[in-house]
Amino acid sequence: MSASNGIKTVGLAPRLHNGFYGKDIISVRQFSREDLAYIFGVADEMRAVVKRVGSTDLLKGHVLACVFYEPSTRTSSSFIAAMSRLGGSVIPINEVRYSSVTKGESLPDTIRTLESYADVIVLRHPEVGASQVAAQYARKPIINAGDGVGEHPTQALLDLYTIQSDLGQIDGLHVAMVGDLRYGRTVHSLARLLCLYDVQMTFVSPEILRLPLDVMNELKAHGKSVRETYDVQDIIAEADVLYVTRVQRERFADQAQYEAVKDCYVITPELMQKAKERMIVMHPLPRVNEISYALDDDPRAAYFRQMENGMYIRMALLAAVLGKA
Ligand code: NCD
Repeated sequence: MSASNGIKTVGLAPRLHNGFYGKDIISVRQFSREDLAYIFGVADEMRAVVKRVGSTDLLKGHVLACVFYEPSTRTSSSFIAAMSRLGGSVIPINEVRYSSVTKGESLPDTIRTLESYADVIVLRHPEVGASQVAAQYARKPIINAGDGVGEHPTQALLDLYTIQSDLGQIDGLHVAMVGDLRYGRTVHSLARLLCLYDVQMTFVSPEILRLPLDVMNELKAHGKSVRETYDVQDIIAEADVLYVTRVQRERFADQAQYEAVKDCYVITPELMQKAKERMIVMHPLPRVNEISYALDDDPRAAYFRQMENGMYIRMALLAAVLGKA
C-alpha cells in the first residue's frame, strides 16, 4: 500500500482515486471507472506515440525489474517492450531457477534486493496473494502480473481496453466467458472489473471448471445477474464478446481430469456462422486447441489486437505509477 506522494505505508492495496503515482497494482478491485478511463486515455496516447515515432524518453533513467516465477511470453515481453519504448531499462528475471531463489532466497528478500536497483517491480508468482505480500515488504510499486489462480489485473485492463477500442463501448454488452473459469485468473480479474459496468455476463464451462464461488458471490454482491451454462451453442448468437480461455493444465492435480476436459470447447468458423456480425472473439493467449486457426482471418477475431494492446496499457501503467503520465 502507498500514499499519493509515492511513499508507501503498510496495508491492503488501496483504491487508486488519488492517482497512480507510487501505488501498487495488485487487484482490479482497486479501480474505479474514472481510473480506467484515465488509463485508457493514456494508452491511446502511447499507441499514437508508438505508431508515429516508435518510442519516447518519458521514463529515461528509470529501471523496471521484471520477475517471473511462472512461464510467460506476452506479459513479460510486453512489459519489457513497454519500458524500452518509454526510454527506460529492464532487469529481466524470467528464469528464477537461475537466480538466488534456487539457493533458497525468500520472496521478501528477492523483492528487497530488486527494489534497491529498480524503481518498479513486475511480479508473476504461482501463489495467490504473492504480490500483496511483496507489496507489504517493498517501498517501490509492485505490479501483479499473475498470482497463481488469483488475479491478473493488467490483463483485465488490456482486455477491457480491447472491448472499448473494438466495440466503442462497454455498457450494454453481453460478455460470455468460455473454458477454464475455475483456474483462469484472467477470467477472475475481468469478471470483477466488469462489475463496474452495465453488462450481462454468461459463464460457459464444464462442471469441474465453473467460476469459483467467491468470484461468483462478488458479482452477485454487485447486483449482477449471472448465467451459467455448459453449452456454447446457448450463447453464441447473443454474445457481443466471446472470451475464450485455455484449460490450465498446470493447475490440475489429476492429469486424467485435465485430459477429460482439455478439448471441451473449440471455436470454429462453423460455430461463428451463428454469431453476430458485430462481435469479437477474445483470448488472453496462449491458445492450445480452443480457437481454430481457421478463425484468425475473421475480422471478429480480436486476440492479436488484444495482445498488441497489452503493450500500450503497460506503457500507460508504468508511466502512471512512476508519476510521468
Ligand atoms: C494468461 C495467464 O498467464 O494467466 N496468459 C497471459 O498472461 N496472457 C492466460 C493463460 O496462461 O492461459
